[in-house]
Amino acid sequence: MLKGKNIIVGVTGGIAAYKVVDVVSRLKKNRANVEVIMTKNATKFVTPLTFQTLALNAVYVDMFKEPKHYDVEHISLAEKADLFLIAPATANIIGKIANGIADDLLTTTIMATTSKVIFAPAMNTNMYLNPIVQQNIEKLKGLGYEFIEPGVGLLACQAYGPGRMAEPVDIVEYVINSFKEKELAGKKIVVTAGPTMEPLDPVRYVTNHSSGKMGYTIANLASLKGAEVVLISGPTHLDPPRNVKLVKVNTTMEMFNAVKEEFDTCHVLIKAAAPLDYRPETVSSEKIKKKDGEKDELNIKFVRNPDIAEYFGSIKKGKIIVGFAAETNNMVEYAKEKLRKKNFDFIVANNVKESGAGFKTETNIVTIIDRDGSVKEYPIMSKEKVAEIILDKVKVLLNNKG
Ligand code: PMT
Repeated sequence: MLKGKNIIVGVTGGIAAYKVVDVVSRLKKNRANVEVIMTKNATKFVTPLTFQTLALNAVYVDMFKEPKHYDVEHISLAEKADLFLIAPATANIIGKIANGIADDLLTTTIMATTSKVIFAPAMNTNMYLNPIVQQNIEKLKGLGYEFIEPGVGLLACQAYGPGRMAEPVDIVEYVINSFKEKELAGKKIVVTAGPTMEPLDPVRYVTNHSSGKMGYTIANLASLKGAEVVLISGPTHLDPPRNVKLVKVNTTMEMFNAVKEEFDTCHVLIKAAAPLDYRPETVSSEKIKKKDGEKDELNIKFVRNPDIAEYFGSIKKGKIIVGFAAETNNMVEYAKEKLRKKNFDFIVANNVKESGAGFKTETNIVTIIDRDGSVKEYPIMSKEKVAEIILDKVKVLLNNKG
């Protein structure tokens, strides 16, 4: 995926340097040409030989070392870079670059490059939260430098909080996505995801099996393709994708109101959520008690929730609306009916009884039906691939609108 790309990895002096060994290995597996510059402090944590062996390239440390071939190293590396990744990025390197200090090979090369520069910070929580470091990060972001947010967790210094370098797999995904065309730039896409839940009393509620995975995957990819994304999510256990606005809701009514807030300013609405169609007519303010006796039954009256998709399909306002249909039988027939009734531009049907499809799975098996009635069945594939197909179709529809 990174074939032909020159990626310069700048390694600075932090314990997370050991994780960057994995980053370099993964970049190589994705066929990038990787060259590594280490600060002197970084060599205390990992030897240059480790990176050299993995990158299959010389590792640069010393600014004034005899060159192997005549080249001003910091200039030639700076010029050949398609992308510069600084990992781990210490408070020191962030501070130096934010303040124009170029006093070693790494800082001079960063200063001389015109390529995209991405920092993956790693440091103690208090250092990371220090207003000086935060100001330096904000300043660099304002100048177009990018940051892969550190995770929250137990750090090498035994502190708990933000400052742990992002995982290698996420760093490499970020790098790969940096080369993807931002084909949805300038478009606002609202995605609904997950189940909704309707309370019965303060301790009980009704919900369904949706994990949110399908909707979160679409939101993530749309954001990577450059769209402004609002993810309206029912209760899930998923981490929200980076760079999306997350609006958390519980009930179908809340989801309806959240979509209402965003609809006028969006270009596309993708309804991957599984909202409950009914809610209890009344919610008991106290815990419902069981009654001992011969005929102890609990009868709860349910009333209809709004159909969010149908409502926005009826007012449409020139938006593209993509629906889903979760069926257990007569899938195509029911999905066609929903497409028409809810005025979708296309509908993605899945049979949630089928193994590998629907709720909670990493994969899905979908059939996509267009407004002209054409039906296309897809084989089992990852939800990421399904998201790619959906967003490719959205892009075509957006282009047709001009
Ligand atoms: O979240 P996962 O675990 O990854 O599972 C994915 C999924 C199975 C939830 C997803 O692929 C899916 O099928 N989502 C739609 C679920 C659903 O509610 O289907 P439906 O056939 O009941 O509804 C049809 C469409 O109307 C859907 O776009 C739905 O979001 C929408 N709807 C439904 C009811 C309602 N009150 N308001 C709505 O907007």
